[in-house]
Amino acid sequence: ASVRDRDAVAATPRRSARVSDPGRQDDPDHSRAEHRFRNVPDTDPSLAANREWALRAITAAGPGVREPELTDPGAVDAVIDAAAASTWGSRPARERATILREAARALAAARGDLLTVMVDEAGKTIAEADPEISEAIDFAAYYADRADELEGAPFTPDRVVVVTPPWNFPIAIPLGGCVAALAAGAAVMIKPAPQVRACAEVGVAALHRGGIPADALQLVHTDEGDAGRRLVTHPAVDHVVLTGASQTAELFRSWRPDLRLIAETSGKNALVITPSADPDLAVADLVRSAFGHAGQKCSAASLAILVGSMRSTRTAAGSRFHRQLADAVRTLRVGHGSDPSTTMGPLIGPPDEKLERALTRRDRGETWLVEPRRLGASLWTPGVKAPVAPGSWFHLTECFGPVLGLMHAADLDEAIALQNATGYGLTGGLHALDPDEIAHWSEHVEVGNAYVNRHITGAIVQRQSFGGWKGSVVGPGAKPGGPNYVAQFGTWHDGPVEG
Ligand code: SER
Repeated sequence: ASVRDRDAVAATPRRSARVSDPGRQDDPDHSRAEHRFRNVPDTDPSLAANREWALRAITAAGPGVREPELTDPGAVDAVIDAAAASTWGSRPARERATILREAARALAAARGDLLTVMVDEAGKTIAEADPEISEAIDFAAYYADRADELEGAPFTPDRVVVVTPPWNFPIAIPLGGCVAALAAGAAVMIKPAPQVRACAEVGVAALHRGGIPADALQLVHTDEGDAGRRLVTHPAVDHVVLTGASQTAELFRSWRPDLRLIAETSGKNALVITPSADPDLAVADLVRSAFGHAGQKCSAASLAILVGSMRSTRTAAGSRFHRQLADAVRTLRVGHGSDPSTTMGPLIGPPDEKLERALTRRDRGETWLVEPRRLGASLWTPGVKAPVAPGSWFHLTECFGPVLGLMHAADLDEAIALQNATGYGLTGGLHALDPDEIAHWSEHVEVGNAYVNRHITGAIVQRQSFGGWKGSVVGPGAKPGGPNYVAQFGTWHDGPVEG
């Protein structure tokens, strides 16, 4: 009754020792590898049986997770020592790959429990939580293939990798970091974000059920104080994977200047819309990009840059676009994820100072196309303001919430300049049907993930490895969900690995 099941990932033949440049189309070995992997399908909500399954899952008592206890700061060293002593990294890479595929199956079997805890703890809607579970399963299966490639390679895995994920993707990002480092052969310590500790518990338990040894994957619940600092500075820790604020990356570096940090940080992302765009598609993708998970994504669209006649409500195209956008935003149904009619969930907590400013204040010249309303401490309706001035506070500041700013550009070049001016470079989009515009934009936009005629969140493992440039990334830069990510967690003996 469900479309979630899929065939087991096929066993993989042995590959050449060295990970080759995966972008190259002329590598036959590589293309074989790329064809093995298949993304798991999300739960199809058009099937009544699946809707009933999801509803039963989120109204069930849940997987019975107690609020986890904080790890005593004094115990952190002992936990890291146990990780460093794990024999996981001395197993053959192909054996690790086999176990990771089992772990992918265990995650798939836990989909109901994962859904429950994500909706319950993070306020995600079913439609947001379900694809994130698919992404975590994909990470495990995809990185299993990368582990196969390491068999026989002149590669020594890291001993211990610390994963410090954010709260906004409480399954895909934490588990993705873990299975990547595990695929390389490192033991992993994961320190979940305090808001979503139960999600991490349920996810890690599934990986353990799949056969990842307890000493190779350990959860540490700490605050940002002494215990957190010890995790980052312990000499057995070879790499720290951070997804979070740029300031956190700086803090970690101040604790340990020689830290090997793989960090995905902030973004201020824009979607450019030209008069050649399909207006219906542009509105739908913009609303999804700006207000999915209430805008609490590093990849979210915080700006829409309207080109030429799209800027003005006095042109036919512009007026239609503004009307459709306002209608679409006003009809988002705000509530908790456990209500199946909710289309925009709550904030993770009351807005911080920046988000409060974005939700309640307008800078000079800005008016509300849709004014946000506070329904509860963490429950706000979405807002759209316009026109955001070039160089203004909202143009340049990541606010991480349900506010979209519209900017105006006379032509595509001006739009690209506004898009590139933020200092960040994570995601960006273009809605245009004119092939010359698409080619021009693709050539000049400065983002890690550039999407054309698509929403700009929700990168899919292998198809759209995810990561930024400029102010959105720290470290060597091979992207999660892409072919070189795993190979970063260790040392190559015949020269540097290309990112
Ligand atoms: N990978 C997520 C996305 O693409 C963000 O972390 O939206």
